[in-house]
Order: sequence, then C-alpha cells, then structure tokens
Amino acid sequence: MPVKSVSRKVQGALDRKRLPRHVAVIMDGNGRWAAARHLPRVMGHRAGIRSVRAVVEAAREWGIQVLTLYAFSRENWKRSAAEVSTLMRLLDEYLRRELDNMMRNGIRLGVIGEIQGLPEKVQAHLEEVMKATAGNRRLRLNLALNYGGRAEILRAVRLAIAEAQAGRLKPEELDEAAFSRLLDTGDLPDPDLLIRTSGESRVSNFLLWQISYAELYWAPVLWPDFGKEAFHQALEEFQKRERRFGGR
Ligand code: IPE
Ligand code: IPE
Ligand code: MG
Repeated sequence: MPVKSVSRKVQGALDRKRLPRHVAVIMDGNGRWAAARHLPRVMGHRAGIRSVRAVVEAAREWGIQVLTLYAFSRENWKRSAAEVSTLMRLLDEYLRRELDNMMRNGIRLGVIGEIQGLPEKVQAHLEEVMKATAGNRRLRLNLALNYGGRAEILRAVRLAIAEAQAGRLKPEELDEAAFSRLLDTGDLPDPDLLIRTSGESRVSNFLLWQISYAELYWAPVLWPDFGKEAFHQALEEFQKRERRFGGR
C-alpha cells in the first residue's frame, strides 16, 4: 500500500531504506562555471574534480551501492585538442591520486564506454586501478569514458548476433534481461536516479537503455558548484517521488 507521509522529516534526514541503489550523474557545466569567472575552461574541469570527490565520498558514506559518472562522451572528441588532452590528463591525475583513497574506503572502480579509444597511458592506469580495487565492495564507482549510449547498444547487438551465429544463443532467448547483460553495465542494476547538473534537461546519449524507469533530476547548479548538499537535495527529492513502473 503506498503510504504518503504527511509528517515533515527533519531537514536533512534521508530514509536509508529508500535510497537509490544506483545513481547516474551527467556532470555538466564546467565550462560555463569557468567562463563566469573569466577563467579558461580547464579551470572549470579542475574545479569539477572537487565535486567528483565530494559526491563519491557522500555516496559511500550514505550507502549508495553504485555511482556512475559521465566523464567523457564519444561526442566530446569534437572539442579542441587542447581541451581533450587536458581532460585526459586530469583523469589520469585523478586515478593516480585516488587509488589510496579507494582502497581505504572500499571503492571499486569500473569503466563503461570504449576504453580502447582512450590514450594508452590512461588505459593502463584504468586497468591498474580496476585490478587493484576489484575486491572492494562498499561502493562501485563507474566512470563513463568515451561513452555513448547508442554505440553501447549497437555493440551489445553485435555481440548477440555473434553469439547467435556461433550457435550459443537462440533469438527467442534474447529477452530484456539477457540483452542487459551484454551492455557495459551488464553486472549492475539499472540507475534509479539520473542527475544532470547545469540546468540542461537532456540526456546527451547517456545510458539510453538503462534509464527507462530512472527518476530524472535536473539540478540548476553547474557541476563545480554541486557538492554534498546539492546531492543530498537530489536524494531528498528522489525519496518524495512515487515510482510506478507502469502500475498504479
Ligand atoms: C562537463 O562540463 C564536463 C565534460 C563534458 C567533460 P562542460 O565542459 O560540458 O561544461 P559546459 O557545458 O560547456 O559549461
Ligand atoms: C554530456 O555533457 C557529457 C558529459 C557530461 C561527459 P555535454 O556538455 O557533452 O553535453 P551537451 O553537448 O550539452 O549535450
Ligand atoms: Mg556541457
């Protein structure tokens, strides 16, 4: 029976039993944050890393199981070579600096997207950190890198065709659950909550299959201004939503 609570919760209290298992975030607005301060865009990306740290820390502390951060899309290669190489360098730095913290805090790193398309040094660091953190269980942190939702779906379709051609999969066996397992997120639950910062309300090719029943939350702040408090607000809002999944 759906219970609509009329009592006002103490501000700031989250219902631990009704937390999203998987939160996905489109971290947007670094460039505008920098532009507003007459700074180069890279300073916005640097500032954005502080938000990444804050959100990862909060997710771990609050008991969220999976956090997927959209860090670089397949379409982001369209940006200037200087911006792309800075983003790759910042990613590399982040991986180097965060490994200790991930080990201390039980964080397991995962990647979705086409990792082979990234610079070799970044690939090597990603592999290293994924391997080192593989046994960690508290929070699964997924970075979406060189990621595009349509491309991911196509790769899964190709896998399914190859399996079928090899005689290991009958077309009628390919149901939604089986198809989901072929995606990069194959071992993860679908996101319950999708947050996008910067006030834009579009999904920009992120997790197209997986967000079919996610609650969408458009945060008005730019990513470098999104911290623990803003994340908390998003979770409070999530807990007010009534999810129906087509039922009533
Ligand atoms: C998000 O901020 C970071 C990445 C896409 C890597 P943007 O760089 O898109 O910032 P805006 O949207 O131009 O403000
Ligand atoms: C989405 O942001 C991609 C990431 C956050 C990595 P963009 O800034 O690339 O998206 P658009 O161009 O506004 O749709
Ligand atoms: Mg943007």
